[in-house]
Amino acid sequence: MSRAALRVTLLLLAALGRPGAGSEHDEEHGGQDNPSSREKGPGHSHWSYEDREHWGVDYPDCAGTVQSPINIDTAKTIFSPQLRPIQLSGYSLPANEKLKLRNNGHTVLLELPESLAITGGYAQQYRAVQLHLHWGSPSGPGSEHTVNGHRFAAEIHVVHYNTKYDSFKEAMVHPDGLAVLGAFLEVGPRENPYYQEILEHLYKIQREGEEVLVPGFNIAGLLPANLKLYFHYNGSLTTPPCYQTVKWTVFNQTMLLSHDQMSMLVMSLRNDDSKPLQNNYRMIQDLHRRRVLSSFQTTLFSVKQLPPGSDSSATTEGQSSSSFHAGDVLAVLFGVLFAITALAFLLYIYKHRSQNARLDSPTKSKVIYTAATTENTA
Ligand SMILES: *[C@@H]1O[C@H](CO)[C@@H](O)[C@H](O)[C@H]1NC(C)=O
Ligand SMILES: *[C@@H]1O[C@H](CO)[C@@H](O)[C@H](O)[C@H]1NC(C)=O
Ligand SMILES: [Zn+2]
Repeated sequence: MSRAALRVTLLLLAALGRPGAGSEHDEEHGGQDNPSSREKGPGHSHWSYEDREHWGVDYPDCAGTVQSPINIDTAKTIFSPQLRPIQLSGYSLPANEKLKLRNNGHTVLLELPESLAITGGYAQQYRAVQLHLHWGSPSGPGSEHTVNGHRFAAEIHVVHYNTKYDSFKEAMVHPDGLAVLGAFLEVGPRENPYYQEILEHLYKIQREGEEVLVPGFNIAGLLPANLKLYFHYNGSLTTPPCYQTVKWTVFNQTMLLSHDQMSMLVMSLRNDDSKPLQNNYRMIQDLHRRRVLSSFQTTLFSVKQLPPGSDSSATTEGQSSSSFHAGDVLAVLFGVLFAITALAFLLYIYKHRSQNARLDSPTKSKVIYTAATTENTA
């Protein structure tokens, strides 16, 4: 059975190869410990991951219906060709530009200069403010988003705000205020030199509130090389105050870190209780009526997946077997759409023909007249 099955097997083997793995207890487990990124919330509120089921009491938005993170079910995403590649500008920073790297008790956060921006892929321009990471523990992964029920080792979030607002703080309360770029981190065979620029400093900021200045580097190296393939949906900050003002981009390509680097990320920091800062991710949130768009075709070419009984709610590695089916339905749908469009087009042509038959000569002479005028005034 196909590449999918093979891949699952490999992942399982990989998981078993790690200490304490094998079970997906991170759901209960992740509830403990602290923080993740407060994506820079107001003030210095006290919330923790132990408490994450009750965030809604102090922060009403956390109980809303447009929350993040979510599980991305690739069989249900909607292919949207108008989602253009994400374009980054100003992301390459010289080493003499120093950036603040901080342990805020919830995550490690790198402050970014305002020169970094998203200049393509979104309808508006967004300016970067900070990036941070979410991770698990030695015994389990800790990405926030999941794909077909699969949780990745870790996740990076690069937080931006709409340039039509004066500041991040102002933007964060508006529906079109924020854009976060997210990418998954996995263990690979090699050391990742871009992530090393952050990881090698973590030992200096083990305690909450500690910070260090790090030399600038190419921040884009922390994100996938392929910025064309991504998922897009409307969601929220994944930490209090959970404002529902984030237009999310989650890349399909993952980032690879060495095993040692991943350990460094998971083991280096402590939270405000001086306990290991681990499992700083939030549980996935209900989609409610939201749609998740994809910039690429996820289903048409996918091999049929695992066995029976999969119901596409996908809580494990095994995914929905409905992708092929979805592909067929899509094909028919597009066929019908095409037919309607063609018909409309013919009608349009037909109508204009009869109109133009009357207007033809006047229109033409008008064009010539305009051109001549332009020349005279130039
Ligand atoms: C996100 O919300 C905006 C504003 O309501 C809407 O126009 C857009 O279609 C939504 N995006 C998705 C992917 O649903
Ligand atoms: C990327 O897209 C493929 C095709 O739909 C899917 O099988 C895979 O799980 C996706 N991975 C991520 C990280 O989005
Ligand atoms: Zn985050």
